[in-house]
Amino acid sequence: MILEDASPFLPELDIDKLRQKKGAKWASVGHDQIPAWVADMDFQVAPEIQRVLADTVERGDLGYLDSQSGKYLSELFATRYHIRHGLDVDPGLVRITSDVVQAIGGCIFAFTDPGDKVLFLTPTYPPFFSVVSGLSRQIMDIDLVRENDTYVIDFDALQEAVADQRPTMLLLCNPHNPLGRVFTRTELETLAEIALVNDMTIVSDEIHCDLVFQGYKHIPIAAVSDEVAKKTVTLSSASKTFNIAGLHCAQMAFGSKELFDSFQRCPSVLLGGVSSLGIAAASTAYAEGALWLDAIMEILNSNRNTLINWTKQFPSMGFIPPEATYLAWINLRFLDLGCRLADLITEKTGIVLSDGLSFGKAGAGYVRLNFATGKTILEEILERLGNFISHG
Ligand SMILES: Cc1ncc(COP(=O)(O)O)c(C=O)c1O
Repeated sequence: MILEDASPFLPELDIDKLRQKKGAKWASVGHDQIPAWVADMDFQVAPEIQRVLADTVERGDLGYLDSQSGKYLSELFATRYHIRHGLDVDPGLVRITSDVVQAIGGCIFAFTDPGDKVLFLTPTYPPFFSVVSGLSRQIMDIDLVRENDTYVIDFDALQEAVADQRPTMLLLCNPHNPLGRVFTRTELETLAEIALVNDMTIVSDEIHCDLVFQGYKHIPIAAVSDEVAKKTVTLSSASKTFNIAGLHCAQMAFGSKELFDSFQRCPSVLLGGVSSLGIAAASTAYAEGALWLDAIMEILNSNRNTLINWTKQFPSMGFIPPEATYLAWINLRFLDLGCRLADLITEKTGIVLSDGLSFGKAGAGYVRLNFATGKTILEEILERLGNFISHG
C-alpha cells in the first residue's frame, strides 16, 4: 500500500516498508495490526541526518569519541535552546548523556536521598514512576485536573500536599506527556515558587519542546527567573523531535555551577556513554534540521485536525486536542469497559495503543494514540477505532 505524499521533504510512507522496521513500534505488532503506541514517528529521518550517519559509517569512524564532539554538541544545543526557547544555557554546564530517562535517574540519585519524595503531575510518562521507585525514592503524584476544556494544576491541593509531604524534587514534564499541555508562564512561575519556597530541586523534562502547535509557546521553567534557573536541570534531546530515539543521545543543562558540581554525586559509571552516531545525528539535527522540522509540524498539524474532526462524532469523549506532542489522550470512560482497555482494543481492531493506566491511576479509562504517521494510516486507525467505539 502506497500512502499519500505529505511534503516535498518526505518520501511517501509505504506500510509494507514500515512493517520491515526492527524498532519496537512496528516489530512488536502482527501483520494485520497497526501500531499507534510508543512515541516514535513513522516518518523518515531528515536527509541531513541520513547523510551524516552514512558518512560516519563509510569512514569507518565508529571508534571512541573525541572529547571535543560532546563540546560541539553542547554549544549547538545551548545556542539553539536560547534562540528557540529563550533560555540562557551555558555550554560549559551542559552534560551529554545517553537518554533523558537516564538523566532523570542521575538527577534523582545526585539530588535526593533514599526515602525522599519526588513530586510529579499525573497522568505522566510511565518511567517517572519506575525510575523514582527503582531508586528507592517515594512517588508523590498529584493529578492534573480537567477544567474548562483543558487540564490544569490544582495549586491549592498541590501546596497543601507539598507542605504535608515535603518532597525534595519536582520532576516536571513540559510539554506534558500524555496530556499535551504546554504550561503557561504563570503556571510555571507558580510551580517554581512552590519548589523554591520548599527548597526542591527542579528537574524539567522538556523532550517535547519543539513539537508545539501554533498558538502555544514552550517556556522552559528555568527561564522564569535566574533564581529558578539556579535550582533547575533542564533535560532535552533531539530524539523525539527528529525521530532518532534509537541513537540515544540526550542533553542536560544545569542552571548553576553548584548544581553541575553536585551532580558528581552520581558516579559516571551509572550514566553510561553516548555513541558516535548519536552525537553526529544530534549535532546535525540541531544545526541543519529546521526545514525538515517545519515540514513535520505541518504534517502533525494536519493529522491533529483529522483527529479533532474524527472526535466530533463522539461528544462523550470530550476530546481536548494536545497543545504539543503527537500524542492524543483519548477518554473512553463512557464505554465503561474496565481495565486492560488497550488490550481489548487491539484484540477487536488490531490497533495497538498505550493503555491509560500505564500513565498512573488517573489514566483509567483512557488510551494514548500516537498520530505521527501517514494520513492514510491515520485514517485507517481512526476508522477501526470508530467502529469499535460505535459497535464494540
Ligand atoms: C516525556 C518523555 N521523557 C523522556 C522520553 C524518553 O527519552 P529518552 O529516550 O531520551 O530516555 C520520552 C519518550 O517518549 C518522553 O515522552
